[in-house]
Amino acid sequence: MKLRITLVLVSCLLSVLTGLVVSRGGAKATAQRSRPLIGLSMDTLKEERWQGDRDRFIARANQLGADVETLSANSDDNRQIKDVEALITKGVDALVIIPHDGAACAKAVELAHQAGIPVLAYDRLITGCDLDLYMTFDNVKVGELQAKFLAAAFAITPGKKRLVRIYGSKTDNNAFLFKQGQDNIIGPLVEKGEVEIVHEDWAQDWRPENAKKIANAAITKAGNFDAILASNDGTAGGAIQALVEEGLAGKILVTGQDAEKAACQRIVAGAQSMTIYKPLKELASKAAEAAVKLAQRRPIVARAELDNGKVKVPSIFLEVISVTKDNLRETVIADGFLKEADVFTP
Ligand code: BGC
Repeated sequence: MKLRITLVLVSCLLSVLTGLVVSRGGAKATAQRSRPLIGLSMDTLKEERWQGDRDRFIARANQLGADVETLSANSDDNRQIKDVEALITKGVDALVIIPHDGAACAKAVELAHQAGIPVLAYDRLITGCDLDLYMTFDNVKVGELQAKFLAAAFAITPGKKRLVRIYGSKTDNNAFLFKQGQDNIIGPLVEKGEVEIVHEDWAQDWRPENAKKIANAAITKAGNFDAILASNDGTAGGAIQALVEEGLAGKILVTGQDAEKAACQRIVAGAQSMTIYKPLKELASKAAEAAVKLAQRRPIVARAELDNGKVKVPSIFLEVISVTKDNLRETVIADGFLKEADVFTP
C-alpha cells in the first residue's frame, strides 16, 4: 500500500515537472457503480463530423470499461443546460461538453462543479468558468492552412485577387480562432494590395443554408471573385451550392475543414479545392481516456493552457493536416478515416 501511494506521488511529481496536472477532488467518484459513467453533452448531431466524434468517443470509453450517456441539444442553449442538468441527476462521474455557445455553457460547468463533477470541454472552449480541461485541435493553424492554400494558389497568376470570406458561428469560440489564423495569412496580403475582401459574413450555427445565402449575397454584390474562404466543409457545401446554381462551381477556389465524405467527393470532382483533416479518432480516443481518468479522479497531464477569460485552462492541442486532391489518399484514406471507394468513384 505504502509503495503504491509513493508511486502515485512520484508520478504526480514527474507530471508536474513536465506539464499541468488536472485533478478535481470531487464528491463521489464512480459512486456506487463498478463502471464509471460519463455524460456527453453535444451541441448537435446534424453534421457528419459530430456523429463520428460521438461514436469514436463511446467506443474508446467502453473499451476502457466506462459507460457513456449522450444527449444532443440541437443547437439550443437552454436545452443544452437542461441536458447537463439531466446528466448530473443521472449521477455521471465526469462530464464532456461540446458547447453550442461557449459562453452560455459556463452555467453548465458551474452546475456540474456544485455537484462535484469535473468537466472537459471537447473541441470547443467554454469561456468564463473554472473549466477543468480543454481538448481540441490547433484551431489557429486550421485557419492558417486554409488561407495558406489560397495564398499559394493566388501567387500562381498575377493581379489582385477578390476574396469572399465565410466565417463560422459567432457562438463558437473556434470560429474566431479559425478567423484569427486566416487573418494571419490574408491580412498582410490585403495590406499589400494583393487581395481584396469583396464580401464577408458569419454563418449562424454553421448552417450550410446560411453559408449559401452569404455566397448568394456575394455573387449579387461583388459579381465575380476568385475564391471563397469557407471555414468548414458544411459552409463550403452551402457556398458551392450557390456557385452551382450560377454555373460557377469548379471555377472558384473554395476552402473547407473536417474532411467530410461529401467534401472529399467534391474535392475529387473539382468543386471544392481543399479541406483540413483533423484526426477525430485521436481526439475522441484521447478525450475518452481523459474523461475516464477524470471520472476516477486520477491525474491528467496537459502540457498547454488557454485563458478562457476566467482561468488558465489546462489544454491539449492536436495537429491538423491540409488536404487537397493530391494527398487525399495518403492522409484521409490511409488513416482509415474514409474509404477509398466512398471518395473516388471508379
Ligand atoms: C469545429 C469544426 C466544425 C464546426 C461546425 C467547430 O467548432 O471545430 O470542426 O466544422 O464547429 O460544427
